Amino acid sequence: MKPNAVIIGSLNIDIVVLCSHRPQPGETVIGLNHQFFSGGKGGNQAVAASHMGAGVSMVGCIGNDYLGEIVTANLKKSGVSISAVRHVENKPTGAAFISIDKDGENSIIVSPGANVSLTGDTIIPFLSLIESSDILFLQCEVPVSATEKAISRAKEQGIVSLLNLAPCLPIPDESILWKSTIITVNEIEAAYYTGLDVRNQEDAEKAGRELVKRGAGIAIITLGDMGSVSISEEGVHRQKAVKVDVVDTTAAGDTYIGAFGVEWIRTKSIEAAMKFGSAAAALAVSKMGAQSSIPGEKAVRSLIEETFA
Ligand SMILES: Nc1ncnc2c1ncn2[C@@H]1O[C@H](COP(=O)(O)OP(=O)(O)O)[C@@H](O)[C@H]1O
Ligand SMILES: [Mg+2]
Repeated sequence: MKPNAVIIGSLNIDIVVLCSHRPQPGETVIGLNHQFFSGGKGGNQAVAASHMGAGVSMVGCIGNDYLGEIVTANLKKSGVSISAVRHVENKPTGAAFISIDKDGENSIIVSPGANVSLTGDTIIPFLSLIESSDILFLQCEVPVSATEKAISRAKEQGIVSLLNLAPCLPIPDESILWKSTIITVNEIEAAYYTGLDVRNQEDAEKAGRELVKRGAGIAIITLGDMGSVSISEEGVHRQKAVKVDVVDTTAAGDTYIGAFGVEWIRTKSIEAAMKFGSAAAALAVSKMGAQSSIPGEKAVRSLIEETFA
């Protein structure tokens, strides 16, 4: 079965520059080399879902500029349909300006640009896409009006929604966002939303229970190299991360989420989907870049066989 996925979310270009040290106020530093990478949580999760074997439609906004063309070309190359990506006048394609120093420490400025145009009204023509899909992926880098409208439609139609509550956003208790089928957060977001300290799998389990109390069917907390934990009616499942040599952890969460969602639709096994997500993310962190680091389904299945056999 080839699952159909819709992603409603952000599209960015990441401009990454390596430097000896990051600039102090007023200082100009000569970079060593810079590269353009396609990014944005929406775009990353779309590419991840596509690489893992889903048919994927992206709903998002870019500017009428060269950087937008890089972003859409990369989505297309990854097999993602871009017919629901809108070009916005007078706003540039969203961009993340990332400087990385010789110790691997980074400073990041994200400028949302055209992503702010993805509102509840903008997505109306694309709501029918949700109805013919198996899973809807959402994040918090676009206006919340779009996310709420999409989740409402998915609920009406009985479609699975997977909401990544990242980056952190104040959300009222009565919001429909809490009622997504699956909610995913990393340890920082889990602490933000629950007020709990989240440092290990035990803490994550407590935070996950809070998210389920608020309405999520399945709560998943990812903990970087400490793995991930899920809480649902089925109980708790703790998953170890796969040990790898780390090159760049950008898009670890997005890769995990895209892979988890697609495998969960295929198997309806939380445990199998967590293994699949962990293996996919481990391969992504062993490579530089966001979308450029996301592996294919075959490589993920081989790693699963090697690791969990
Ligand atoms: N250093 C790492 N080594 C192996 N797997 C990792 C590493 N960092 C992240 N992962 C995998 O990716 C998942 C998501 O990473 P995490 O850092 O929690 O998300 P985010 O990118 O949202 O901060 C983890 O649960 C783990 O399976
Ligand atoms: Mg992390």
